[in-house]
Amino acid sequence: MPDLANVSDLEDSYRAARWALLPRGLWTLWLAREEDGKLLFEGFAIPPRDLPMQLRLFVNGIECPVIEQPANEAVELVVKRFGLSGASTRYTFRCAMPMDQLGRAENLRIEFRPGTGRELSPYQDWYLRLTPRAQADTSRRVRVAATADPILFESMGISVCLAMRRALREYFDRDYTDYQAILDWGCGCARVARFVTEFGPRKLVGIDIDPDNIQWCQKNIAQGEFAHIALDPPTRFAGETFDLVYGVSVFTHLAEIDQDRWLAELQRITKPGGAVLMSIQSEIAFFRADGDFQRFLALEKDGFYVYGRCSDLDDVMPEMKESEYYKNVFHSRRYIYEHWSRYFEIVDVIDAVIAGHQDLVVMRRR
Ligand SMILES: C[S@@+](CC[C@H](N)C(=O)[O-])C[C@H]1O[C@@H](n2cnc3c(N)ncnc32)[C@H](O)[C@@H]1O
Repeated sequence: MPDLANVSDLEDSYRAARWALLPRGLWTLWLAREEDGKLLFEGFAIPPRDLPMQLRLFVNGIECPVIEQPANEAVELVVKRFGLSGASTRYTFRCAMPMDQLGRAENLRIEFRPGTGRELSPYQDWYLRLTPRAQADTSRRVRVAATADPILFESMGISVCLAMRRALREYFDRDYTDYQAILDWGCGCARVARFVTEFGPRKLVGIDIDPDNIQWCQKNIAQGEFAHIALDPPTRFAGETFDLVYGVSVFTHLAEIDQDRWLAELQRITKPGGAVLMSIQSEIAFFRADGDFQRFLALEKDGFYVYGRCSDLDDVMPEMKESEYYKNVFHSRRYIYEHWSRYFEIVDVIDAVIAGHQDLVVMRRR
């Protein structure tokens, strides 16, 4: 255990943790918009462990000059937690690119390629759509995505949709259209499902415990079926109904006992051989959010760490205040391999797929 009184010992521990946790680097965006005929975007980036730091960002393959790197205390903290030194300006970027250099592409792909220009994990690429289509109003969006920014909301939705599609192709050699029935478990106001429907799936069903967001989906998304469900399983679906099941940021909110009930239910309603994609907050998200080494060691020891109650649903489900059903939780990767494998075959866990924060667990129903 590191000696917390000894700063250099702690820094060494962080550095070691970074070496283990971020072989492929980590980056994210926190702002993107069109301004005066330019695409403007900002964020932070940490290089993969074996590459020197060089902020190089590309939009649709074209390198974009980093015009200014605003200092940012929050980033200073995050990079320290990953055992990196130097001012935050080494890791923050602000880029501006004339829109006329980007042609007419609907989706703009932003890539971070540090140092030699070698590609980082494509699962961390961001896709932007600067003109959002019809979205839920701000309070509904904030409830599921913690941002009021319509462009970031749109971009997270499409980026996750495309990252999951990449995983389906890589691990299952399939696309959304190859599945008979897809389930979006905990769909919220369809941040991701809106984009999955663009691929024309044969059948897409979204379910959630939040009645208000489900009503919004029912009114606004004709290409899917949406239903409100109870906090506890079973659902009304027959066994082996779906051949693709995904859940974005749902297991990040449940107590272990509820997690186990839902893992069993998802197993029941997934067809044998079906694909199951679930996001989690693992050690990477923990370092970004907290970084306290004692709590980190507790996560590593127990595999499951409850960070406290999450109040995001209180306005639409006041009963949550009492029940404390909705929480913020972290999983260690080892726990996923040891515990979730009782329900599904664990195919892989992909780093920081959701906004440089949550990992994607790729599973197959045996
Ligand atoms: C952080 S939000 C993410 C919503 C959506 N997946 C997205 O990415 O925008 C988590 C969602 O899970 C829903 N949820 C929580 N527990 C659930 C459960 N047991 N079954 C289905 N949905 C649940 C919440 O109501 C909320 O909409």
